[in-house]
Amino acid sequence: MTVTSVDGTPTSQMPVQHPAGKITLGTLKTMRQQQQPIAMLTCYDFPTAKILATCGVPVLLVGDSAATTVLGESSTIYATMDFMVLLTRAVRRGAPDVFLMGDMPFGSYATEESAVCNGKRFLTEADVDCVKLECDLRHEKIVRAMTMAGIPVCAHLGLLPQRAVQQGGYRYQGRTEPEADRLVRESVAMVQAGAELLLLEAVPDRVSRRIVEAVGCPVLGCGAGPSCHGHVLVLHDMLGYSEKVPRFVERFGTVPAAVAEAASAYVRAVETRAYPQVRHEYGVKES
Ligand code: KIV
Repeated sequence: MTVTSVDGTPTSQMPVQHPAGKITLGTLKTMRQQQQPIAMLTCYDFPTAKILATCGVPVLLVGDSAATTVLGESSTIYATMDFMVLLTRAVRRGAPDVFLMGDMPFGSYATEESAVCNGKRFLTEADVDCVKLECDLRHEKIVRAMTMAGIPVCAHLGLLPQRAVQQGGYRYQGRTEPEADRLVRESVAMVQAGAELLLLEAVPDRVSRRIVEAVGCPVLGCGAGPSCHGHVLVLHDMLGYSEKVPRFVERFGTVPAAVAEAASAYVRAVETRAYPQVRHEYGVKES
């Protein structure tokens, strides 16, 4: 897929200004101030993290979407703390300078105590810069307790995949006036409770714009329109792995086709005895 800018230039050929050095919360706040859009992707492993770091992606999220993209589960609720910490450590090893966000899995922040304990695990065991949790107004105390304990928080609002059943499915949020008002109230409440970043999922741009105007922190969007300061896509959707994707996803590549081509070439080489060859062999020492 070739994505073009308004003048028709493929975006892959356009010069970009990557922020240099270690990306911190301060970098993201400056980017908001300077109106420099923030690109963010999910990432779940060491080699991919290394590649993404060289492309200048300033923010990586080890999302609980790993349960679906990596494990093939039907829902994100199957991600566990141990699984998330292990993946997040790997991503940090591959991308030491990115702003790294760990995703608090289902059930890991049900109480203030568990939220602080598990948030601390992300910081001390996986070296994240902040953790993300799916929030509504009821999470005010939890966000406050975490930030008081020194854990930087990104409040994820709007479509909450861990609560898909309670939200009546994977539905766009904030499409009615009362829902939009509630999202603005939730955003302000989370920032007042100490959240340093907001992430809005599947929200109309009109609502995102209201939220951007109501809060002073960077607002990241996942299908939340151009008004957000940054945008995140699930890596596997962006690379063309997922068959069914939400309408806001743009496919920027077709990695499965490249993997299939390489794997088919390998199978053919083995079957036709073209691989391995003498140059692949280990010799024996003459004695
Ligand atoms: O887990 C995830 O990948 C996410 C993104 C959809 C924002 O939370």
